[in-house]
Formats: sequence, C-alpha cells, structure tokens
Amino acid sequence: MPKKTISDLGDLRGKRVLVRVDFNVPLDKKTGAVKNDRRIRGALPTINKLLEAGASIIALSHLGRPEKATPEERNFLTMDKVAVRFGELLGRPVKKAADEVVGPAVAAAAAALQPGDVLLLENLRFDPREQKNDAEFAAAIASLGDAYVNDAFGTCHNDKDASMVAVSAALKAAGKPRAVGLLVQKELDVIESLMGSPKRPLIAIMGGAKVSDKINFIHALLGKVDHLLIGGKMTYTFMKARGIEVGNMKIDAEELENAKNLLPHVGTKITLPVDSLCAKSDDLNDTQVFEGPIGAGFEGVDIGPKTLALYAAKIQQSGTVIWNGPVGWFEKPAFSAGTKGIAEAMANSGAVTVVGGGETAEAVEQFGFDSKMTHVSTGGGAFLAYVEGKKFQSLAQIDDK
Ligand code: 3PG
Ligand code: MG
Repeated sequence: MPKKTISDLGDLRGKRVLVRVDFNVPLDKKTGAVKNDRRIRGALPTINKLLEAGASIIALSHLGRPEKATPEERNFLTMDKVAVRFGELLGRPVKKAADEVVGPAVAAAAAALQPGDVLLLENLRFDPREQKNDAEFAAAIASLGDAYVNDAFGTCHNDKDASMVAVSAALKAAGKPRAVGLLVQKELDVIESLMGSPKRPLIAIMGGAKVSDKINFIHALLGKVDHLLIGGKMTYTFMKARGIEVGNMKIDAEELENAKNLLPHVGTKITLPVDSLCAKSDDLNDTQVFEGPIGAGFEGVDIGPKTLALYAAKIQQSGTVIWNGPVGWFEKPAFSAGTKGIAEAMANSGAVTVVGGGETAEAVEQFGFDSKMTHVSTGGGAFLAYVEGKKFQSLAQIDDK
C-alpha cells in the first residue's frame, strides 16, 4: 500500500511539521566538527518543500550513541554544530532548542514558530526514553506539531526509537497526519527498483569491521546475489575460521562462530581476499603483503593488490554491484588503495552501482567517485536491513494514501 507523502498532507500554511531526520553525521574525533554533511543535505528537499508550502519545521534527530559515550565525547553530541551546518545549507537561520529534549522551554519555542521558521531539537538520545519507545516522551514531542514526516531513512530500521514509532503513533491518536519525506521515498524507490529485478550478475561487496553486525545480512543476501566479495576486518575472521594464522589481529569469539557457519559458501558464492596488506602493530610504517598466513606481529589493514585486481575484474563482469563497508583502513592514505580501487572500479564499470553505509559513502565521496555511482544511500544498517527484506515498523506507522 503506498504511503502518504508530503504532498498528501493538505494545506500546510501556518502548520508546524515535525520532521524526523537522520542527522547522525560523522564528527571529527578531536574537534567535534561535522566531518560529512551528506545526511543533512539529503533532508533539504523535504524541508524546503514544507517551508515553501507555508509550514514551520520542528526537526528532530539523534546524534551518535551518547549512552555509550564518555563525558568528553558526550559534549560533542549536542546538536549545536549540526544546527549551524543545517542553517548554512538551508540558507536560513535554524534555532537550536533548549538543552532539554522536551519540556516547557521547547514547547514555548515550538509555539512561537512562524511560517518559514526552523527549530532543531536537542539530541533525542540525551533523553533515555527515546530508545525505549516511551509513550509519554513521544506524546510530549507529538504535541509540538500538527503533522509528522519521516525523512530519516538511515534510522528507519530502529523500531524502538520513540521518534520513529511512538511519536508517529501519538500523532495518529490525536488525528494528525503522518507521511514519508522525499529522501525516504527516493531511497525506497531506488533500492526497490534495483533489487526487485536486478541486472545480473548481481554482486555484493561487504567490508567493515564486524562480522556480527552483518551476519544476518550475509545469510539473507546469499539468496539474492550471484556472488559476495569479502573485504575489511571480516576477512581475518573468515581466515581464522578456516584455521589460517591472522597475525596480531584480535578476533571476537562470537564473530568467529558466525564466520564458521558461513564457511560452506566460501569458494562458491563467497570469495575471500587472496592477499592482504599488513602492517606491524607497533610500527604502522612497516608493511608487507601476505598471501595466506599473516606473520606474527602484523595485522591486516587493507586488501592486497592481487585481491584488488581480482575484485575489479569481477566488478567489470557484473550487471549490478552493491557495496557496504570499506575494505581497509581507508582514513590512512597508505592503507586506502583497496577501498579507493573498489570505488574506482565501480565508478568505471558499466554496472548499476549502489553504495550504502556512512563510512562507505564517506570513502566514495572522499575519493571523488560519488557522482559516478548509480545511488549512494544515506543508510547504513537501514540500507542492509531493507535489502535483506526487513519490514520497518517506522514505515508501517505512516498513513496509507
Ligand atoms: C545509523 O547511522 O546507523 C543511524 O543513524 C542509526 O544510528 P544507530 O546505529 O546508532 O542506531
Ligand atoms: Mg547503525
């Protein structure tokens, strides 16, 4: 059933619209500055359209995982810098709400909004009720607005976040309309059309740090793709699962079990790197390429040159390529050849190319290949979950047309 979109919200003149965005952007670890604003840019079409229709905006987002942060890290997780960047990109001032997420000061700021005004609430996860899908917290947020728009594609898979589910339910209870935003609509349309009847062969490239984060996705994906190429830290978990030495790399026991369960597919549907660029753990300038067992004191930091050539050739022969997770430690130029090479091979191929995941999107952008991809998703976990076929509570909530 098609969902209501923002053009189905009726006359918005003088209305206050709650827009759940995903401004969970990467921050500089030392300064807290916004490192990449792609997710903010992604929400602008929806925000602009609502403003043009005469509405005011109450934007809401989480930022990072404050519940796991140290007090210093937590200081960086206030929305202040995000509000400034949001305002710059929008070309109009964005008011940052009070330090409380909801409460009298926020209610007063929302009530004072005039058409064209934009208010950004404080980091939703500063209130522990956000991740408990708490009804009272949700009701307080819902009472601020006349309509609700979900434009937070990157967070759509989080079905215990109040701002994604309970807030929208509270608006429904109050007889107020809910719709999906233009970004969510576009992401769903593109991913659906690409994955519905993909141009074959369809290959997936999976990198990143953790096997456990992606294990369910790999199982589901094997039924959909013709080939899965592995890179990144997962490589060493698979190597260890096959009884091959991985040098200094620490492997999580649970992830190892997960990788063992996938071994029957290795060599058929799953391809592992044939070589790795490794660095001495105590001197990262001391590097060596290993084919097979990795020497003591070394750890893998990137796929090796033979692997890159092999993967680039597979990309050339494919109809569709989906990529999630860098294949190496790309932030370090000396270890970025694999990730850059994969991006380049995808950009220069005739295949339909889809990139998902914050780090992967960041890498593709950093190397200047983003405009050469068919689609760069703003979602990481959400992109994987959607391709896997998960049904999102947050979207089920939205009114049907
Ligand atoms: C993401 O970046 O994956 C989304 O913003 C959701 O954040 P989370 O992974 O911390 O739930
Ligand atoms: Mg996530």
